[in-house]
Order: sequence, then structure tokens, then C-alpha cells
Amino acid sequence: MIKLENINKIYNQSRPNEFHALKNISLHVSEGELIILKGVSGSGKSTLLSIIGSLIKPSSGSVVIDNQSIAKLPDLHASVFRADKLGFIFQSFNLFEELSVAENITTPLIHKSITPKELKDKTATAMNTAQIQHKANTQVKLLSGGEKQRCAIARALVNSPKVILCDEPTANLDAKNSKIFIKTIKKLHDDGKTIVIATHDSIFDSIDAKIINIQNGTIV
Ligand SMILES: Nc1ncnc2c1ncn2[C@@H]1O[C@H](COP(=O)(O)OP(=O)(O)OP(=O)(O)O)[C@@H](O)[C@H]1O
Ligand SMILES: [Mg+2]
Repeated sequence: MIKLENINKIYNQSRPNEFHALKNISLHVSEGELIILKGVSGSGKSTLLSIIGSLIKPSSGSVVIDNQSIAKLPDLHASVFRADKLGFIFQSFNLFEELSVAENITTPLIHKSITPKELKDKTATAMNTAQIQHKANTQVKLLSGGEKQRCAIARALVNSPKVILCDEPTANLDAKNSKIFIKTIKKLHDDGKTIVIATHDSIFDSIDAKIINIQNGTIV
């Protein structure tokens, strides 16, 4: 499902502050696999996730997701690809604070040609999976941290993405909400989703996952 070959990422290339953040990374993730990326701060986890998610381009190397090569996709194509195939759950939720939970969750569907009924059904299913349906009509700014995160999860799921990418997803959650998050991830894994999580949080030790360790931009 995810094939990275010889990925290098050099920030600020040829400038005095040049930084080689990823060095010859190759990584294959099969469909339905659950991967945890571990490594100290600055080791390159978020950079790697952003490359898998086609949010940034590698300096060299190839990225194939679901049989499509994305390393050189033009930006517009990359955004369509992201909307169709990927769900993102990041530490900062990037929700629209003034909009309701349901309105936030429908935003990835807006450019799609689907009927109002489909839109409603997909939104309801995603809210149920993330256990936020009881707040559907509440403005996001009135939610707790854990509820905001569940709203972000529902938004990531509404398109039924094949691949889910999470960057420090529990960093802003208390123990109770972290446990709820783990349960949701286990369920998505059982449903056959391919999942990559970058995290320091030892709560993920309880999950049956393949661990990938990154050190100074290299898989060790
Ligand atoms: N846009 C950028 N420009 C220059 N350097 C960057 C940029 N983004 C990241 N870096 C550098 O690349 C290295 C890897 O950063 P990255 O964010 O991938 O680390 P990380 O493993 O996710 O760390 P953390 O656990 O703190 O989130 C760091 O040294 C960082 O300073
Ligand atoms: Mg990071």
C-alpha cells in the first residue's frame, strides 16, 4: 500500500542552513498494516509522515501509495489524491472553530459529487465511529480537547480513506481520551485500514503494531 524507496529530504538545500532530515529511507507498508514510527524529537518522524501524505515533496526518491506514484505530482493533483486516499489526524486538530462538529466533518466531501443523503449518511457513520455524534450541532470552539480530537478523527474518516496518518495524536489528550483514541485505532485496524502513527506516547505499547525506529533521519 505504501512504498518508499531511497527517500532523501534536504531542507534549505544549498543554503547555509541546509539540513539533511531524511537519509535514504526505504519502507514498505502492506495493506492493513499498523505501523508506529518512534524516534526522539527531531529524528524526522513528521517529515516522513508529510512525505507519505504528499504534503511535502522528497528531495529524491520515490513514493508510491496504492499503486500511484506521488513524489512528483503537481500540487493540485496531490490535493485531490490526498482527499480521496488519505485521512490525517494531527496533534493540532486544524478544525474550523466557528463551525459545528457536523459541518467540520463534511468539509472533505464538499468538492465531491454526492447526494445530500449520502453526505448525511457518511457524516453520521464517521461521527459514530469516532463517538462524537452527540455533539453534531455544537460549535467546535465549545468542545473539550478530547471531543475536538474525536471530531478530527471523524473528519479524517468521512471519505473512507484507505490510509490513515497520525502525527502525535495523543499529545494533547488526557489518559482517558488517549484510551478512547487507542480503541478507535484498534477498530480501524480491524476494519483493514492501513495506519501509520508517529508518537512518543508509551500508551501505544499496548497496541499490536510493527515498530519502526528513526534516528537522525535513518531507519535503524
Ligand atoms: N521546514 C523545515 N525547514 C528546515 N528544517 C526543518 C523543517 N522541518 C523540519 N526541519 C528539521 O528536520 C528535522 C526533523 O524534523 P521533524 O519535524 O521531522 O522531527 P520529528 O521526529 O517529527 O520531531 P518531534 O518528535 O519533535 O515532532 C528537525 O531537526 C527539524 O528541525
Ligand atoms: Mg514531529
